[in-house]
Amino acid sequence: MKHIIMDVDTGHDDAVAIALAGGLNDEIVIDGFIATAGNQIREYTLENTLNLTEALEMEAPVFAGSIGPLLRDRVLAGNIHGANGFEGPVFEKRKKKECMGNGIRWAIDHVLSHPGEITFVSVGPWTDLAVCLKSDERFASSLKEIVLMGGAVDHPGNVTPSAEFNVFADPEAAEIVFGSGVPITFFPLDVTLKLLLTQEVLDKVKNLPESRYKNIFLASMGFYVPSLLKAHGEMPAMHDPCTIAYLYDPSIFKYSYRPISVETKGDKTYGKTIGGKEDKNSTTKMAVDVDTDKFWALFFKAVNNLV
Ligand code: BDR
Ligand code: CA
Repeated sequence: MKHIIMDVDTGHDDAVAIALAGGLNDEIVIDGFIATAGNQIREYTLENTLNLTEALEMEAPVFAGSIGPLLRDRVLAGNIHGANGFEGPVFEKRKKKECMGNGIRWAIDHVLSHPGEITFVSVGPWTDLAVCLKSDERFASSLKEIVLMGGAVDHPGNVTPSAEFNVFADPEAAEIVFGSGVPITFFPLDVTLKLLLTQEVLDKVKNLPESRYKNIFLASMGFYVPSLLKAHGEMPAMHDPCTIAYLYDPSIFKYSYRPISVETKGDKTYGKTIGGKEDKNSTTKMAVDVDTDKFWALFFKAVNNLV
C-alpha cells in the first residue's frame, strides 16, 4: 500500500485525480488532503475538496493549507476553472468539516512519525510542500518520494510563453522543492498535454450505470470542456490525474532523469522550469510520454470502483 498526502487546489482535473485515488484504494491510501490556494482562493479550494470527498465517501481528513505563494503576488485560474474554482457540479449541503489546525504542521508531524513511508503528492502550487521542507530539516529525509504536477520543460507554458500554472503561481516554492534532494517524479505539460479527454471517453462515462462519481464527472466536464476549448482550443488535459496513475502503475509513463531548476529572476521567463541534460544520477525524474489507452483503462477501473 502507498500512503500519500495529497495537496490540492481542487479544480476540475484535481477532482479527477482525487476520484482516481479514491477508486484505486486497493493500492493507494490517502492519509490526508491539504487544500491550498491556486486555481481559486483557498476558501474555495477547501470547500471544493470537502464537497467532493464527502460525495465520493472518502474519509481522509481535509486540512487547510496556504492562502498564497511565498513571495510573489497571488495568481488564480478562475478563467479556466470558474468562479468557485470547480464550476459545474452542484453538491448537497455538506456535513464534512475541515480538520482544525494547520495542514502544514499536520503534514510535518505525520511524515516525521512515519519515516520513509509517506509520498507527498502536490497538484496545485507547491507552496505547502516548500514550507514543510523549510520548516524542519528532517522532513526531506523522512519523505519517501515527492510526486508533482507542474512545469513545462521542453514545451511552452500555459500561463506565459514559458511558464506552467502551478510553477508560475509560486516559482520560489518550486525552486525549493527541486533543490530538496528528495526523489521527485514530476509531470510537466510536456507529458500531460499528450493526455487529453476525448469525446469517446465522455460517451463511455455517459453509458455507465449510476455511481458516486459519474454525474460529478459529467457535470464538471460540462463546464471544463467549453472552458478549455475557449481558452486553449483543445479538450482538457488530465494534468493532475497523472500523479495518481503513476503511483498505481508507473508503466503508464516513460521517464527521463534530468536536473531541474526554476527561473525566479527573469522578467519574461519568471516561473520557467529549466531542464538540464539527461543524467541517470539525477534524483528528479520527469515523465515524458504516456500510454493513453492504459491511463483510460485505469480511469475506468477507478470509476467502476466508486459505485
Ligand atoms: C495545472 O494548473 C491547474 O489549473 C490544473 O489543476 C493543473 O494542476 C495545469 O497547469
Ligand atoms: Ca491543480
